[in-house]
Amino acid sequence: MEVRGLVKTFGPTRALDGVDLTVRPGTVLGVLGPNGAGKTTLVRILSTLIRPDSGTARVAGYDVVREPRRLRRVIGLTGQYASVDEKLSGFENLYMIGRLLDLSRKDARARAGEMLERFSLTEAARRPAAQYSGGMRRRLDLAASMIGHPAVLYLDEPTTGLDPRTRNEVWQEVRRMVTDGATVLLTTQYMEEAEQLADELTVVDRGRVIAEGRVAELKAKVGGRTLVVRPADPVVLPAMRDAVADAGLDGIAEALTVPAEGTLHVPIVSDEQLTAVVALLGARGFALAGVDTRLPSLDEVFLAVTGQRPAEVAGGADEKEAAA
Ligand SMILES: Nc1ncnc2c1ncn2[C@@H]1O[C@H](COP(=O)(O)OP(=O)(O)OP(=O)(O)O)[C@@H](O)[C@H]1O
Ligand SMILES: [Mg+2]
Repeated sequence: MEVRGLVKTFGPTRALDGVDLTVRPGTVLGVLGPNGAGKTTLVRILSTLIRPDSGTARVAGYDVVREPRRLRRVIGLTGQYASVDEKLSGFENLYMIGRLLDLSRKDARARAGEMLERFSLTEAARRPAAQYSGGMRRRLDLAASMIGHPAVLYLDEPTTGLDPRTRNEVWQEVRRMVTDGATVLLTTQYMEEAEQLADELTVVDRGRVIAEGRVAELKAKVGGRTLVVRPADPVVLPAMRDAVADAGLDGIAEALTVPAEGTLHVPIVSDEQLTAVVALLGARGFALAGVDTRLPSLDEVFLAVTGQRPAEVAGGADEKEAAA
């Protein structure tokens, strides 16, 4: 996938404002971005559903504007909102797609059965999709996008609204597609999902790419490690934070209390700093129940590059989940 200078406007809105990206064959690119960043617009252009105003995009060797018919034969798409035929059963939906993709009756039947099994829909296979729950519809939609073994798969927020077990099932199927050679572009609001599946990440905001790189590179960009300290009693968190601030330890930036976790987060860049902070807290008589270091999370990476505060990022995701 080679995308250069993609621009798409809707009236006064510049949904895409010059997007460049490259996805190497057989890899997964995660596209992260807040609501309205332009993720779905990008997926719709790359799957030939809409045309860009300017810029170019080649996918699997085909130009998305000049060779849409050829491109459509090699791509699979799961849109942000499930699109299944309500009147047909789960099996019939998949069988129909298989037949449209030129599978023989026998192969279409076998493949539909296989995909129903993989997405835990076998029991519901004969019921009309109209009676499916939201999560079941999404799974059926995902199964449909994978039925023809597409060389390129687009997944637009594939696990929004799915329960944790089902989310794992979907991740497993995406990994299986990649092992079989597929190239995947995945948009998501879940940092964990990007971390689980993506080789590389592109962060978009207001139609522009604001950061890109390998997951580990993006994490490194944010800086060193975070020292996570858990006091025996969370009530002392503010006092611990103040103690670290007042000690004026060399090179230690402001510590952050995370009441929801009952922990204090201290950004550090060396083992000496780690030792100094733990020694200080011990000397001040704080009883510690846990000490850990971790790389910055993708949430923190996202924050660092978008400038949004944690509360907003977390709140946005929660609202979205609640809405879904
Ligand atoms: N058909 C359309 N007509 C008018 N405006 C549109 C249309 N499609 C998208 N937009 C606008 O383009 C911008 C990008 O929308 P897009 O759906 O690509 O965002 P997104 O990153 O997918 O967001 P979300 O995370 O909410 O799905 C938004 O401001 C949106 O309102
Ligand atoms: Mg979208």
